[in-house]
Amino acid sequence: MILKYVYGTPIETEAVVEQIAGAEQSMPFFAVKKEGQSISFSYGMEEEDIVYGLGENVRGINKRGFLYVSSCSDDPCHREDTNSLYGAHNFFILSGKELFGVFVDFPGKVTFDMGYTKRNEMLITAEEENLVFYIITGETEKEIVKAFRNMIGQSYIAPKWALGYGQSRWSYMNEEEIREVVKKHRENRIPLDSVYMDIDYMERYKDFTVNKEAFPDLSAFCREMKEQGIHLVPIIDAGVKIEEGYEVYEEGLEKGYFCKKEDGKEFVAGVWPGKVLFPDMLNEEARSWFGKKYKVLLDQGIEGFWNDMNEPAIFYSEDNLTEVFKELSKLQGENLDIYKFFHMKDLVLGIANNPKDYQSFYHQYKGRKIRHDKVHNLYGYYMTRAAGEAFEELEPEKRILMFSRASYIGMHRYGGIWTGDNMSWWSHLLLNIRMMPALNMCGFLFTGADLGGFGAHVTEDLLLRWLAFGIFTPLMRNHSAMGTRRQEAYQFESNQAFADLIGIRYGILPYIYSEYMKASLRGEMMFRPLAFDYREDSFAKRVEDQLLVGDSIMIAPVYEQNAKGRYVYLPEKMKLVKMKSLTERESRIMEKGHHYIDVALDEVIFFIRPDKILPLSKGGQCVEEVDFEQLELLSFVETEASYELYTDDGFTKDYEQAEHFRTFKVEK
Ligand code: GLC
Repeated sequence: MILKYVYGTPIETEAVVEQIAGAEQSMPFFAVKKEGQSISFSYGMEEEDIVYGLGENVRGINKRGFLYVSSCSDDPCHREDTNSLYGAHNFFILSGKELFGVFVDFPGKVTFDMGYTKRNEMLITAEEENLVFYIITGETEKEIVKAFRNMIGQSYIAPKWALGYGQSRWSYMNEEEIREVVKKHRENRIPLDSVYMDIDYMERYKDFTVNKEAFPDLSAFCREMKEQGIHLVPIIDAGVKIEEGYEVYEEGLEKGYFCKKEDGKEFVAGVWPGKVLFPDMLNEEARSWFGKKYKVLLDQGIEGFWNDMNEPAIFYSEDNLTEVFKELSKLQGENLDIYKFFHMKDLVLGIANNPKDYQSFYHQYKGRKIRHDKVHNLYGYYMTRAAGEAFEELEPEKRILMFSRASYIGMHRYGGIWTGDNMSWWSHLLLNIRMMPALNMCGFLFTGADLGGFGAHVTEDLLLRWLAFGIFTPLMRNHSAMGTRRQEAYQFESNQAFADLIGIRYGILPYIYSEYMKASLRGEMMFRPLAFDYREDSFAKRVEDQLLVGDSIMIAPVYEQNAKGRYVYLPEKMKLVKMKSLTERESRIMEKGHHYIDVALDEVIFFIRPDKILPLSKGGQCVEEVDFEQLELLSFVETEASYELYTDDGFTKDYEQAEHFRTFKVEK
């Protein structure tokens, strides 16, 4: 059952697509309190209650005991005390004495105090009382998720090639460097489907331009790459460079499509190209205009994009920077004591992503002028919507790859997400594992992290372990920042191990693709906490580092340096499969309970559940080579096992055709 409570006059976010009437009964579970402008909802938690969800956030699968703030933020060095990440996903499930889901549909800042201030109190606070609060009840967590997903509409579906391995790095400066990356993968028999083009492909970081010296003929280069089974995926940034003669800037300015300040002048911010203007993605006309700009790259053979810096990230605003320089000049030559020194430090550290900047520009949304901070969490969503709506028009038959950095629930219909900048830290590998179910709950199925870590210098063992987890995530992309240690899979001594590991992804692709498609089409979760399937198992509720992936398997990734293996909890008898490569593998039945399992650096383990099947292909060097017909069925049969495989061409949109679904059975 879905109960809807409307407070004040909410700003329409278009997160929810289902028509739901306001609830007649008074609100269950929560006590509601209005205080000044804000509104809060409190709930007394029992000791055994678990909180699942909140999408992209730090900490565990169980979100209890911390404070999470929905406010899309650029924070590459996030740690366990970070309150906000790149996405704002206001959906969670409380499971314990009671069982219900909550979605707070509010585009501004929302604070989820999950027992942080008072250990047993949940307190949800929104800055304003204009919001819609949904309570979803059901018999199980999975039922609640399904009802919620039905409410917010079907998730975006990526083309099949996008589930292949992708190599990305900020600093591939020209065609030659990309050719080299592809050549090295092919030479070393490391499968590869895409190379991501970071900001360096553009002419002076201007969206929808190509640096002609570095990429003299992008169409020809795209063709050349496609002949080798490679898709090029360029980045698009939110800010449009201010430069005379640059068409996107001039046209947008003339039409009034950029965000403006109170005084009606354009809001000037600084990002990669220096000074930029932000297209008003919330303004329907501007959005449609921006979306159509992707055509210039589609026309050159590009079939996928990633949308970046769309929180939007602001290095500085022109106005604030002027103020800061003025203040700093006053301090110059002074004897800086404790107060003056920290004042100076705060001034400088406060330049980027300053809350005051977010309060100083406006959107034209549905005929109303709205200050940015009130709809901050919609910006990335609406940028991606701009692209998604344009693709529907420009390429109605074809799936275009799209994923974004910033997001809000609702955006899941237009694109996937990657989890933003992270670091080459073991803790960020663990975070990646724990975040997956929460992202799936919120509709983000095509998702993954920067494998190996974006910032900081990777180590070979971290990359191996991270890839051993990444082979299960729909978006499997190795991405790193300029200036960090190179982390392409061929950069290390254990070349063969990398080739074999990534090769396993292509072996299990029929499974990963089928599970991804079924979860997207049916509003289900591909990645689930153990407790969602083993509801009566009180120990399963405690497991924070194992996941169910799809219908047939459980995974238990290794995420600690120098670990030779790990403890694993089996909620029932399962079959352990250990793979070094697609051909070198062993398996054995293991009893329910606690085990220690050795997992070498070049191995992947997973567990097949009773009466389940994992279809295994022979692999390939790119997705196109993977044969979905010649399958070996890895199974654990107690009585009779069955599997529903999904196969289609992988790029058109007739997803629901009955012939795409095929069921296999294996008898004892
Ligand atoms: C941002 C993105 C990152 C990208 C970089 C340069 O930090 O999150 O993925 O490489 O910008 O474009």
